Amino acid sequence: MSETSFTPRVFSGIQPSGNLHLGNYLGALKRFVDWQDRDVESIFCMVDLHAITVWQDPVDLKKSTRELCAGFIASGLDPEKSILINQSQVPEHAQLAWVFNCVARMGWMQRMTQFKDKAGKNAQNASLGLFAYPALMAADILTYHATHVPVGEDQKQHLELTRDIATKFNHDYGVEFFPVTEPVIEGAATRVMSLRDGSKKMSKSDPSDASRINLTDDADTIAKKIRKAKTDPEALPSEAEGLEGRPEARNLINIYAAMNNQSVDEVLADVGGKQFSEFKPMLAELAVAKMSPITTEMARLMEHQDEIDKILSRGSERARAITAPILRKTYEIMGMVPPVEM
Ligand code: TYM
Repeated sequence: MSETSFTPRVFSGIQPSGNLHLGNYLGALKRFVDWQDRDVESIFCMVDLHAITVWQDPVDLKKSTRELCAGFIASGLDPEKSILINQSQVPEHAQLAWVFNCVARMGWMQRMTQFKDKAGKNAQNASLGLFAYPALMAADILTYHATHVPVGEDQKQHLELTRDIATKFNHDYGVEFFPVTEPVIEGAATRVMSLRDGSKKMSKSDPSDASRINLTDDADTIAKKIRKAKTDPEALPSEAEGLEGRPEARNLINIYAAMNNQSVDEVLADVGGKQFSEFKPMLAELAVAKMSPITTEMARLMEHQDEIDKILSRGSERARAITAPILRKTYEIMGMVPPVEM
């Protein structure tokens, strides 16, 4: 089925599991704002039901959810233009996830590399939710009939699974009901790497705080982390091929390009030949200029948590106007007896 038969609609989500970082910002948040500004209907979600697939302290979860919402708004998402929601407030996500648990095959789920990475050697002790996680993610997207999903590269396999689930559902029931969603993985920063090790993804769970720039870091901390970022002894190349085999150099150039809305080639045309001792202060200055206003605005918003809670409630109400009819229709297709008016 072609995606063109569906009205374009954007959906994406981020887990409120703390330590929102530069990878989340460049790979996801900043690009959410680009979509919003293209005037496509867009829904952005704090996926708390995903977060609890590993243990979350209840007090921290509440704080992280509100902080994430503050991060969305501080990054430029407008709660009037976009629909901002907290996943657990829109019950259709979990309801459709159950349906998709019955559509997805065990073999598909067992191939998910993120489950293998997160469960590690102790897979027998991982939660069932962690295993079923990608079916919930498919439900997040398809309960809106979303057609475009901007994400970082690490979500690619989950989006392929979402396409498989939509295709199988449509095939099994002989309908063209769910869109076969487009993953949108684009730009220079689809995979921001650790500042301490260019072969590892920048991640909220890295025990080293110096490996990432947090959206709550102040200007001094940002500059210090960039100054200390791992590099190699060579000068920067003038062309992208020169970054081959230099993961740390590639990472810092990618970060610069994404933050400055440039291509890697454009950046290298400017900085090629420079030593890191010259480039790092440029990067630090840019990072502080771009990130500090976001950090400051997040802190300001966190002082008005009741406003945040209202934004999320209002978002959920708007979301349910989309999701409830889609779930109802899904059940009808599957042969569930609907309630009657009495
Ligand atoms: P999460 O919370 O791990 O990450 C949120 C978004 O940030 C991107 N990202 C990165 N991008 C570039 N470099 C990095 N180092 C980096 N780290 C994270 C992720 O790719 C993601 O776009 N399963 C999802 C959340 C989710 C979702 C969805 C996304 C749940 N339902 C439906 C899209 C649609 C996750 O755990 O993302």
